[in-house]
Amino acid sequence: MKLGIAILAAGRGTRMNSCRPKVLHPLAGKPLLGHVLDTAQALAPARICVIYGHHGAQVRKAFEGRPCNWILQEQQQGTGHALLQAKEALAELDRVLVLFGDVPLIRTDTLSRLLTEAADADLGLLTVQLEDPTGYGRILRDEAGRVRGIVEQGDADARELAIREVNTGILVARGAKLWNWLNRIGQDNAQGEYYLTDIVALAAAEGVSIATTQPRVPEEVLGVNDRLQLAKLERWFQYQQAEALLRQGVSLLDPHRIDIRGVLRVGRDVTLDINCLIEGEVQLGDGVSVGPNCCLKNCIIGAHTEILAHSVIEGARIGESVRIGPFARIRPQTVLSDRVRVGNFVEVKQSHIGRESKLNHLSYVGDTRIGNAVNLGAGTITCNYDGVQKHRTEIGDRAFIGSNTALVAPVQIGEDATIGAGSVIVRAAPPGKLTLARSRQRTIDHWTRPKKKS
Ligand code: UD1
Ligand code: CA
Repeated sequence: MKLGIAILAAGRGTRMNSCRPKVLHPLAGKPLLGHVLDTAQALAPARICVIYGHHGAQVRKAFEGRPCNWILQEQQQGTGHALLQAKEALAELDRVLVLFGDVPLIRTDTLSRLLTEAADADLGLLTVQLEDPTGYGRILRDEAGRVRGIVEQGDADARELAIREVNTGILVARGAKLWNWLNRIGQDNAQGEYYLTDIVALAAAEGVSIATTQPRVPEEVLGVNDRLQLAKLERWFQYQQAEALLRQGVSLLDPHRIDIRGVLRVGRDVTLDINCLIEGEVQLGDGVSVGPNCCLKNCIIGAHTEILAHSVIEGARIGESVRIGPFARIRPQTVLSDRVRVGNFVEVKQSHIGRESKLNHLSYVGDTRIGNAVNLGAGTITCNYDGVQKHRTEIGDRAFIGSNTALVAPVQIGEDATIGAGSVIVRAAPPGKLTLARSRQRTIDHWTRPKKKS
């Protein structure tokens, strides 16, 4: 049985009040359509078609390289018309699963269940019971409980409006039947559109079997029509992720105050304080603790490392038992080896810092290689940029850099070298020696402080 998937994503998204196409608005850092495409790909279908329309170029560009067929629906004449655009592309497939670009959180296992439970039916619908069914198409059943059709909100009478079982829009149909039904639907309804949902009454009239499946939780099938719905779905999704982490054994000081926009992998006994933001792929080793208000993006943090409040780490590899922050910024392509200390108001960019080295206060370290057990005094700055090019700084093992030193790159500091505080170092400083580059201190003996005239 060959499966094709059609994702309807051509709608205008008017209620978002946005220049950006609706399906590109992010949920947990990923575009709505990205969620649906990932879920579709997980089912390993023979083909995925995305029916797109508004801001087509922008949407296609955002998903360049994805294995899917892009099909333009030039005029948005309804969901039935949208699916019909994919007829040629999906013609030779046995079954077609329809997903919506603005229903992002549908789960792969729910869809697998729908496919299994509808395996012998010509049509399978994913339906859900809602407390408040307003806006959704209602599922019509006969006395025996068999599905007879779907009526849209705008076309329903009072009795039908009271029905709480609604159409999620997601369905699977046998290809041969589907295209035939679609060719027969009209647009004689409140919105003057070709409703995909009208195929259900045609199927029922033919007497074919119609299966129904329900998602595990209603949030899976909630659609995003405006920013309020998007914000609510984001909160729900974030809380689900937080719950999963708690069950895994992570301590979250407040599961309502953590946001994960990507994937977080954790060892044992990891603790995250409030308001942390995780982006991209982040890995936290055993016993890592992250203080409040930290942002971690695409980084690997070694076991027992402590990240103190208000620190930002991106694109870095951090060793074991390191201490970072508070108020530290670690930028891409930085490696901090085991037991390094990076303190407050220190920025490190594209640098390698050796074991047990200390950068404790108010420094900028860029394009630098620092050896082991180096001590960088407060206010040490690597001057890596001459306005045109970036240059490198090398600091040998056990060097001691006095406070408020400017290291003008390219420059090398030898092993065990000491640099006097307040130096501006423009040439190599030899190993094992004290190098100073500052004016000598002097005292003027016969000087008197001027006095105010009375
Ligand atoms: C649709 C269903 C309704 C269901 C609800 C669930 C129909 C007629 N109604 O209503 O029964 O309860 O979804 O969320 O199917 N689209 C196109 N081209 C178009 C029109 C729509 O690609 O010409 C796409 C939209 O981008 C969207 C999806 O189809 O992703 C649904 O369209 P929308 O207009 O939001 O349908 P609803 O009124 O929500
Ligand atoms: Ca919708």
